[in-house]
Amino acid sequence: MHTDDLSPLRPRLPSPLEPVEDERFARRGLTLLLKRDDLIHPDLPGNKWRKLAPNLRAAAGRPVLTFGGAYSNHLRATAAAGRLLGFPTIGVVRGDELAGRPLNPSLARCAADGMRLEFVDRATYRAKHEPAVLAALLGRAPEGTYVVPEGGSNALAAEGCAALGRELEGRADVAAVACGTGGTLAGLAAGFGGRTLGVPVLKGGFLGGEVRGLQEAAFGGPRGDWWLDERFHCGGYGRTTPELDAFAQDFEARHGLAIERLYVAKMLLALVSLAEADSFAPGSVVAAVITGSRDQSVSSR
Ligand SMILES: Cc1ncc(COP(=O)(O)O)c(C=O)c1O
Repeated sequence: MHTDDLSPLRPRLPSPLEPVEDERFARRGLTLLLKRDDLIHPDLPGNKWRKLAPNLRAAAGRPVLTFGGAYSNHLRATAAAGRLLGFPTIGVVRGDELAGRPLNPSLARCAADGMRLEFVDRATYRAKHEPAVLAALLGRAPEGTYVVPEGGSNALAAEGCAALGRELEGRADVAAVACGTGGTLAGLAAGFGGRTLGVPVLKGGFLGGEVRGLQEAAFGGPRGDWWLDERFHCGGYGRTTPELDAFAQDFEARHGLAIERLYVAKMLLALVSLAEADSFAPGSVVAAVITGSRDQSVSSR
């Protein structure tokens, strides 16, 4: 199978758009829709598909090298794609102290999918995009290896996420998405004609610049009407709070859907809080993008 044609993976596209009855929205004349990107593909759910697919087409069967932490969903999705499509994968993992230890379940799955794992110390990992560091990594990889950045976010990834925006075009007034690197938001906002809310799950206030940079690289300049609400990171990346967990459990009970905690739950918390604060115009249709599934998050951080 050759990776410039991903149709044999049979992605579920466009992903389903499901209305849900939620009185916290209905009471204010709002309609809540769930954009089920988590159902696109079992091994490449949500934004993993949106971001990886254009990169895999560009790699066209060459080996793929990418980066991640010890619990990276992105590494797992890349390894699975390599197995399914038959191309070699190399995962550069943050933390040389992990080398020689038993692999955690996430990395064990990467290895079982055929990914060659290379553990590097944290300083090297931070410098991974510097030419000398990258050249050393590529020197140990097969000729012609294609590099995908950490989290899979580059210009091609943002273009892939623009398709998500186009799927929502004319179907909603507001779209909301959780943000790590900002690649999904950069593309979604570019493809969508309504307003797009990004909910950062990391602390730090750096995301706006990242999104603008990705839009510049992908589309040549700013695109779409998007804004960030930085209040819902719940302590930062990988962190949850008892309140967030209670909120997610309640949402699961109301709507019969398992909620991924580290990204999706924070975005839903933001949406419900903004609805309860009457931040959306009555009559608005609000689409929450479900970018990942709970299964993914069980062993992720
Ligand atoms: C489930 C889920 N939602 C949202 C995101 C955020 O995506 P991005 O890094 O493009 O902002 C991620 C990270 O890749 C994720 O795993």
